[in-house]
Amino acid sequence: MEKWMKNDLYIFENLIDEDIRHRNVSEISRKNNLPDMAVSLAQGQFLYLIAKIKNATRILEIGTFVGYSTIWLAKAIPDGGLVISLEYDESYAKMARENIEYAGCSDRVKVVQGEAIDSLNKLIEEREEPFDMIFIDADKPNYSTYLELALRLSKSGTVIYGDNVVRDGELCNAENPDEKVIGVRSFIEELGKSKIVESTALQTVGIKGYDGFTLSVVK
Ligand code: SAH
Ligand code: DHB
Ligand code: MG
Repeated sequence: MEKWMKNDLYIFENLIDEDIRHRNVSEISRKNNLPDMAVSLAQGQFLYLIAKIKNATRILEIGTFVGYSTIWLAKAIPDGGLVISLEYDESYAKMARENIEYAGCSDRVKVVQGEAIDSLNKLIEEREEPFDMIFIDADKPNYSTYLELALRLSKSGTVIYGDNVVRDGELCNAENPDEKVIGVRSFIEELGKSKIVESTALQTVGIKGYDGFTLSVVK
């Protein structure tokens, strides 16, 4: 096993006290041979801590999968808070709702099934109140569009987190034809050009390999 994987396991064991039902959600997903798309334990706790630092009460997630990261975000907000999570795959959305209910978070989470772009446009049209934190984690080719729409659902101080942007180190490779790499590159370039956000990106290694994320705050 790679050393960074062993270190991740050491970190999980020593730092993170995951609720048993929450842990079962990732086990169920593993046992059902679903793709390994959820954030790791340490990344989940990191999202939770950001939401806490921000005192977030309203969080938007783009890309629910089966709700593992959604539950981390839901646990970070106070009673009366809301996580809206967008997922186009009907069976994932259904599993997510079941998992969120099982983890005791369904009082504060709404999973919206549909194409994220349509759901975001609907939230904008319906004048949904701005969010304190937005977690972008769906299809990478649409990240720039998600950013543009997310900014319309933001206010000063909104935290925007973009997952999976380093992609085994291919982020810097302008020649890579992979649409996911092209997608995250244009996302990062848009963040850099934007006059209304301040951003950084950090590279990560661990149980999910070599990747990284962006973190932005709306001015
Ligand atoms: N946030 C989850 C993982 C999300 S994986 C976690 O960490 O636990 C990305 C998800 O985005 C997948 O479930 C995929 O079905 C969904 N997705 C991909 N394209 C989408 C689109 N156009 N609209 C909405 N959801 C989409
Ligand atoms: C994929 C998506 C993710 O958000 C992730 O963290 C890992 C993998 C994917 O689409 O394969
Ligand atoms: Mg991700």
